[in-house]
Order: sequence, then C-alpha cells, then structure tokens
Amino acid sequence: RSSDGLQAVLEGVGVQSPIPQFPLADTQNSPVDIYLSYLADTLTQLTGCEPSIAYESIQWANDVGDLVVVLPRLRLPNIDPKVLSDDLQHNFPDTPLYAAPFSDGYNLRFFFDSCTLAQVVLPYIIDRGSAYGKDESSGFRDHEKPDAGRKKVVVEFSSPNLGQEFDGNHLRSTIIGAYIASIYESMGWDVCRMNFLGDWGKNIGLLAVAWFRFGSEELFDADPLKHLLDIYTKIGELFKAEQEAAKVDGVEKPDAPIGEERDEFFKKMEDGDPDAVALWERFRKVCVAKYAELYARLNVDFDEYSGESEVRHETTVEVETALKEKGVEEEGDEAWIINFKGHGLKGLGKPIVRHRNGTTSYLLRDVAAVLERSRKYSFDKMIYVVSAKQDSHFQQVFKALELMGQTELAGRLQHVSFGKSLGLSPNSGTGGLLLGDILDQCQSAVLEFLQTHSDDFPELQTGDASDVADALGIMALMTEDLSIKRANNVVFDLAKMATYDGYTGLTLQYWLDQVRSKLRGFTVDRDSLMNADYSMFMEDAYLPFVDVLRLLVQFPGIVKSSFRALESSTILSYLFRLVDLLPAVWDVETMQQGEEVGDLGEEQIEDAWGVAEADQGKPVPSLGEVPT
Ligand code: ARG
Repeated sequence: RSSDGLQAVLEGVGVQSPIPQFPLADTQNSPVDIYLSYLADTLTQLTGCEPSIAYESIQWANDVGDLVVVLPRLRLPNIDPKVLSDDLQHNFPDTPLYAAPFSDGYNLRFFFDSCTLAQVVLPYIIDRGSAYGKDESSGFRDHEKPDAGRKKVVVEFSSPNLGQEFDGNHLRSTIIGAYIASIYESMGWDVCRMNFLGDWGKNIGLLAVAWFRFGSEELFDADPLKHLLDIYTKIGELFKAEQEAAKVDGVEKPDAPIGEERDEFFKKMEDGDPDAVALWERFRKVCVAKYAELYARLNVDFDEYSGESEVRHETTVEVETALKEKGVEEEGDEAWIINFKGHGLKGLGKPIVRHRNGTTSYLLRDVAAVLERSRKYSFDKMIYVVSAKQDSHFQQVFKALELMGQTELAGRLQHVSFGKSLGLSPNSGTGGLLLGDILDQCQSAVLEFLQTHSDDFPELQTGDASDVADALGIMALMTEDLSIKRANNVVFDLAKMATYDGYTGLTLQYWLDQVRSKLRGFTVDRDSLMNADYSMFMEDAYLPFVDVLRLLVQFPGIVKSSFRALESSTILSYLFRLVDLLPAVWDVETMQQGEEVGDLGEEQIEDAWGVAEADQGKPVPSLGEVPT
C-alpha cells in the first residue's frame, strides 16, 4: 500500500491534483481524511482563511448531508456567514468527490458523490483488509524512528481473589479489559495483559482457617474453585458473627479466635513459613490452572498471571522508607498509616500501610507493585481495569506515589473504572458467583432459545448444539457489556440477551454469518475493481449500498474515538447501525438477481428503506438532493 496507489485511484476518478497536506489528516488510514483535505484546501483558496482552521471547520453532518463546513468557525473578520455561505454555494468549483454543496443559511453542506465514493473507498478498504480501522504506526515511540520501538502498555484486568467469588466486577473487568488490550494492540502498542490475582493478604489467612476447619481433599479435587468458595463463605459467616459479637457496645473484646488465627496464618506466610507457603502455593496452582481453562473458554488470554503474592518484601520496605522520609507514613494506634489529610488531601482518609504485626496491606502491595512493574516493563502506560468501587483505593495508590516523589511514574498510571453489574445470580447451592457458572448459564439460555426456535435452526437439531450455544452465549454476554458506557450499570438479562430481538450479540453473529456466507468463495480482483463500472451506485435502488459505504468510511474515526475514551460502546453502536442497514441491502440484492421478483416490488423496497430511516431517526435524502 503506497500513497502512489492512492493517487492512482484518485486520478481514476478524475482528481488530478495531489492530496493536499494537512497535519491533522491521516489519509493513509482514514479515507474521509482525503475528502477533508481536498475540501479544506478549496476552502482556504476561496476564503483566504488559515488552512488548519479550514480543516477543523469540517465535521460529520449529523442530519442532512455527509459533511458540513461550519462557516462561523472559519473566524473570518467582518464577513457575514450568511453571505459567505451563499457565495460559496455558487462559486464552489466542481469536483468528482462531492455533489455541488448547498447552504443551510450558515453552513455549507456536502454529499459524497456516491459513484466516486465507491470507486475510492472500496479499493482503499480492500487494500488494507483487516488492517482497515487500525493505526499501527500510532504506537511507535518515535514516528521518525520506528526502530525506537513501540510504546508499551500494561493492562491489568480480571484479577479475582483466590478462594472467593468471581463476581460481576471481575466479569466486567475481564470483558472491558480484554477490549482495552486489543484496541491498544490495534493502535500499534506493545501490550502486556496482566492478571493480578488477589492471592495474598489476610483473606488468604482466612481461607486457610476455613481449610483447616472444613476442607475436604475429595471435594477440592473434584471442583477446587467451588470447594474453596464454599468453605470461604462458611468461615466468612462465622467470622462476621465473631466480629459483631466483639463489637457489642462499641467495646472491642480481645477474644476473636478466627480473626487471630487468620492474622497468624498470614503472618506466617509473610515470614516464609514453609507449611503456610506450601498450602498457599497449592491453592494458587490449582486455581490458576482452572482459571486459565475458563479464560480460554472466553477467548481471553493473559501474558502474565501475577498477583499480590509476587510483591517482594524489599520493595515494600523501599516504599515505606520513601514515605517515611517525606514524613507521610506515620505510626497510628493500630498500625502504620498514611495521613493524607495531614498533607492537604482530604477525602482519602488514613489508610493502613503496614499492620501492627508487621504484615503488609493491600495499599502497600499495590504501590510496591507499581515500582516493580515499571522496572520490569519500562511501560509508557499502565491501566487498571477495576470497578468504580475502588476509585478511592486507586487515588490513594497514585497519591502515595506522588508523595513519595514519584510524580512522573504516577502520571503514567490510569484507573479505568466501570459501574455495577446487576442481574447475575449464583447457581443454587453455591456460596457465590463463579465464572464457570456464569458461562454455563449463558450457554443454557442460548440452548433454550435455539430449541424454542428449532424451525429457524434445523441444522442444529440433529447434532450436539452445546458448543455453538457456548460460543453464542459468550458472544451475547460480552456484547451486552460492551454495548453500554463503562460508567453505567449493566443489567445482565440472560433471557433477553439470548435472542435475535434488538441489539444483541446474536444479532451481530447472525449478520456476520449472512455476510460471510454471501462472500464465501468470492475473491476480489484488484484490477477489475479499479476498472469496474460504478454507475449503478447513482441509481436509487442502490442507495442502501451507498449508505453502507457512508458508514464504512467512518470506521477508522469510530475506532479512534473509541480508543481515545476507552469506550467500547462507540464501536458497538456503530456495528448496530451497520446491521440495521443490511436488510435493505439484502432486499436490493435479491431483486437484482431476479429472484422472487414477483414478490418484491416497490413496496418491499420502501419497507426496507423504512428500516434504514428508523435507525437514523431522520429521512435519508437522495444524493445531491438539496433539502428545502
Ligand atoms: N483482587 C481485587 C479485587 O477483587 C482487584 C485487584 C485490582 N487491582 C489492583 N491492582 N488492586 O477486588
């Protein structure tokens, strides 16, 4: 792919001058930028405004037209935008790229010339193939010197706790984190996918207490994640009762056997006691193996199963030394703490750094992990994909680093948070949610849907449909979560997700299959594509195709804005706009092939159009039509 090839395509449609250069334009990755460049260049010549201002005055028309030049943005002194727009409408030179512009009073609106659009955009997309929409070069550390390597990002996500529930927060973290990791990859970054297991701390002490009281080798062998969760839940209830009893009248009573045993066990782990460490290691090994199977089912991969246990003692001491030097870590009544308030940071409280008995806290392990990872990976950026419930924890981590004098490092960290997850409930007889159970539930919901619609899926009635149902169930689950803005709460309604009604994963999969089967065995020959006759795109009957093209040119921009905000919903709503257009395309196709012509008349085509119109919430004027 070269700019020469692009220029040849443009010459083919009658655009002779080279693509004008604009710093903001990325004509190699985004075809609409070619249109913007020519348009901005003409505007500059006609009005004498600054080229970059001309470029930035153009935006997508959300209502009428494809592109709109917002004339007041040109900031031309002493010129009435009304007069200007009138003037420009009459004097705009003809170009093969657009139909003649029209003024809406203040702005100048343009429709793509549909024939040229097909001629330019189809080869453009086909040349790039699956790289279309990606921008690998944006991940270079130095654009001038690709040898300087790619930028490195560590994306930490999923991160369940050993022996505990895999709850809705872990599920969302897994789905959103996998999306973030892959969009960074599409943008050319070198990505490390890290799972930071909650495999250290007092909770593991409590798990050990549970094991000593209720553990069963047999049940552990049969289903380790479930058995550990069961016994952890059991001990949790007892421990809660103990804590409540100890707090009667607000007076702490010293007698708290479970709490003491928990703290002692964790202390032993931190002191390297061989038996304690061996038990922990056994739990960890078995659980990680199980998790890896479940993640494979989700098609999610990790480069590293790290965990709180990996943080080295020396690094925690290093953190504390720095904090103490700056006078930030203080000895409190119960433990060593950070006094954020004393350092002018209200609202962050006085979190514990190290407990009285010398053991580390979640905060201390997290801060130390930042230092270790920055040494190990020299990352340009590290992203924590963790529920909004931990907002203040991450503020504490970042602020602690700043107070230690690690401001630059703290600036490379980002907490990407998300709202609650509702609607999931544990399988009966389990103490809480487990990833395997969630996936099983999705699978059953889809199986049920397939069975109740057996007429639509005759091919699935003969064999075993469970694999198909599993893949579709996961598709449904992920689509549901990725379709909404992160900050919103997601409601997982399995019965609703497992249908073709509306904007579901099954709807996407259905259309993907339709497109694939239509294209099966079809290859595009680049030369014939260049020399094809595109005049049919001017016919009204082909408007549904042109609308698809109009959407396709937007794709690189959609990916970019999704990347900027780390919002998957930008891409998902784009995909749903696309599938909304496809029924109309299918109808045109059927008609052109002369199949069932008797059944398909004007009316059906209009019906098909109705779909596209309803989707966009606006009438779609035909090309070149000037709205009055
Ligand atoms: N294991 C934690 C939990 O389940 C999430 C870990 C988030 N990551 C971190 N670096 N603290 O709540």
